[in-house]
Amino acid sequence: MNTEPLNSTVIDRDFQNWIADLEKRHLADLTFSEVSRALRALSSTYVERRGKIAEGAALSGAGKRAAFALFYGPLHFLLVRHIANQLMGAERPRLVVDLGCGTGAAGAAISAARVIGVDKSSWAIAEAARTYQQFGLQGKTRQGDAAGVSLPRPAFVVAAFTMNELPAASRDALLTRLLSYAQTDGEGVLIVEPLAKAVAPWWEQWRTPVESAGGRADQWRVSAELPEIVARLDRATGLDHRVITGRSLSIVRGPT
Ligand SMILES: C[S@@+](CC[C@H](N)C(=O)[O-])C[C@H]1O[C@@H](n2cnc3c(N)ncnc32)[C@H](O)[C@@H]1O
Repeated sequence: MNTEPLNSTVIDRDFQNWIADLEKRHLADLTFSEVSRALRALSSTYVERRGKIAEGAALSGAGKRAAFALFYGPLHFLLVRHIANQLMGAERPRLVVDLGCGTGAAGAAISAARVIGVDKSSWAIAEAARTYQQFGLQGKTRQGDAAGVSLPRPAFVVAAFTMNELPAASRDALLTRLLSYAQTDGEGVLIVEPLAKAVAPWWEQWRTPVESAGGRADQWRVSAELPEIVARLDRATGLDHRVITGRSLSIVRGPT
């Protein structure tokens, strides 16, 4: 797996304005040190205290929310934009459904004209609505369970860093549904997760059905110049995201 440079056009005016707005709002009532401390706690929830995620520990409290919005949101945007560019070239789906949309990063990164964000967290969907607006997308949000959402046809479905938070039975049922959807009247599916095997131990089992359905599995290493606030948080917490990594399972059919 080679490290690829992020295309510099990704960091455009919309992206910069989005980051500026996130900084303004999330650092209004919290200091940089409070957000860095919260980012350490959030990262430990994602890596070592995964059992707490289902209880809502990841997005509990203003500090962790700010850390998620300012740090993981932009990193996920950069990775998903790179993946979309590599898999789709200049073509974009007409409508994206973003499952577990969080702050809306993945849906905005794919950059379809319309996007529907679905998340169980009311805080997340409010952030996502703002993100879609900032990228000039026609956005809608729905609060609810990603596993049970009805999918409009045709649409492209993205689930970025979401599948690992679903209970195993819902996750497997959702994959079966997404495979059938992508092969019939969906425009495609993109599932993104971290490289760490412990986060998504089901990955290899999913790979075969995705590939049999005409899809592909990829690993990504993208070197990027990070926005200043992300780079500062990265350094302050002893993380290192100068190379952003992830893996994806995808079926890209294009417009039907
Ligand atoms: C790690 S975040 C990823 C957010 C976003 N996709 C991104 O790439 O930045 C996972 C998101 O999934 C949401 N989530 C977890 N389980 C969910 C479920 N069953 N239904 C809807 N959303 C869910 C969480 O609330 C959170 O916003």
